[in-house]
Amino acid sequence: MAQLWGGRFTRKTDELVYRFNASLSFDRRLYAQDIRGSLAHVKMLGKQGILTEEETKEITEGLNGILEDIENGKQEITGEYEDIHSFVESVLTDRIGEAGKKLHTGRSRNDQVALDMKLYIRSETEELQSLVRELLTELLKLMEKHTETIMPGFTHLQKAQPVTLAHHLGAYFEMFRRDNSRFADIRKRMNTCPLGSGALAGTTYPLDRDYTAELLGFDGPTLNSMDGVSDRDYLIELLSALSTTMMHLSRFCEEIIIWNSNEYQFVEIDDGYSTGSSIMPQKKNPDIAELIRGKTGRVYGALMGMLTTMKGIPLAYNKDMQEDKEMVFDALDTVKGCLALFTGMLSTMKFQKERMLESCRHGFTNATDAADYLVNHGVPFRDAHGIIGRLVLYCIEKNKALDDLTMEEYKAISPVFEEDIYDAVSMETCVQKRNTVGAPGPEAMKQVIQKCREYLEEQNA
Ligand code: ARG
Repeated sequence: MAQLWGGRFTRKTDELVYRFNASLSFDRRLYAQDIRGSLAHVKMLGKQGILTEEETKEITEGLNGILEDIENGKQEITGEYEDIHSFVESVLTDRIGEAGKKLHTGRSRNDQVALDMKLYIRSETEELQSLVRELLTELLKLMEKHTETIMPGFTHLQKAQPVTLAHHLGAYFEMFRRDNSRFADIRKRMNTCPLGSGALAGTTYPLDRDYTAELLGFDGPTLNSMDGVSDRDYLIELLSALSTTMMHLSRFCEEIIIWNSNEYQFVEIDDGYSTGSSIMPQKKNPDIAELIRGKTGRVYGALMGMLTTMKGIPLAYNKDMQEDKEMVFDALDTVKGCLALFTGMLSTMKFQKERMLESCRHGFTNATDAADYLVNHGVPFRDAHGIIGRLVLYCIEKNKALDDLTMEEYKAISPVFEEDIYDAVSMETCVQKRNTVGAPGPEAMKQVIQKCREYLEEQNA
């Protein structure tokens, strides 16, 4: 076991303790951030005259060599190292000798790991945004195609009023648009550089913290060294944003599962995104949608885990914080996988327009419009509501839709009805008349779609 410490110890670390304590198996994924941080640190040490020009050069070349060799597979990240920081420093010293031992001047693993995680999360939020943008692009494509595709809108999972598929998908566009802005938001608040915080109380060396912050693309250095090494707020924000994205994906998946059911048949999930049953030959199951819905629990778990891990930690760094990695890495891997798979499933899914329209017709989704018709002919809304309620009851008894009633049947319930009632309760009219901003009417939808298009162009620029 290679450790960076041991001077004040008289006995070797117990093997089990070593394994329990070590983090290399999971923080190895931070190697690029760790080396990048070290390169900036060394450059600053050289500029400040804390390291000689020669030492700065040797360390810099050594670090670049390690990075290159990890990337081209010549240097494996294995062995008995406690963590990625110990690994890089030990390999460096093995390679370049004495100068390598000076890399850690004016630094602690506490500010080092805080930096590595921030660098990692910064690029991960960018990757998340690009995956969300791909989903938004797919949604927009479908919205443009389905402004006239009529389907029932639901409340309480009961058919309510007709909407269009474009409108329904547009609701998800808004949700994922907010997710996208949440990921950008996290970056803004976390973008300060902890390097130079030392173990907790800064250092006695004349470090130029503004310089390292700038080299690493931060807005500036963190302003309190104890906070610098022990702030994990941004991870909680990230996990909260990831949980929200999963909640949105999960709701969408739940709808797709319902729409894909034998009873609804509003959509057909592509064979490539479905699975079969080992016993029932007829089955084609929406496993991918179910798994995404299921994995939501696991991401919520990471958020709860992180909040709980942090709640009792006194200032400043404590080893508890090492637990942040597996939770955050797992949540990130999960959400990125789910986003990519969901977009694939959505883009290959077939929408059964006729089934949707048929479902609309047989659920009295035009009852509100029939009441509005009476109101437009001078009947007070409350009375109109009662009249249409009776009409619906009559239809249920006769197994008819409002559109199927004869003029005599209409007149028998209220003499106010005229021939134009048929047009007023047609699904097309019901949708077309709803043209206030945010409503499903094609005119209103077209304007919203234009705004969505502009948003995505801006985001992709
Ligand atoms: N592996 C540690 C972590 O992830 C790095 C920091 C260790 N610092 C220490 N003083 N033990 O948090």
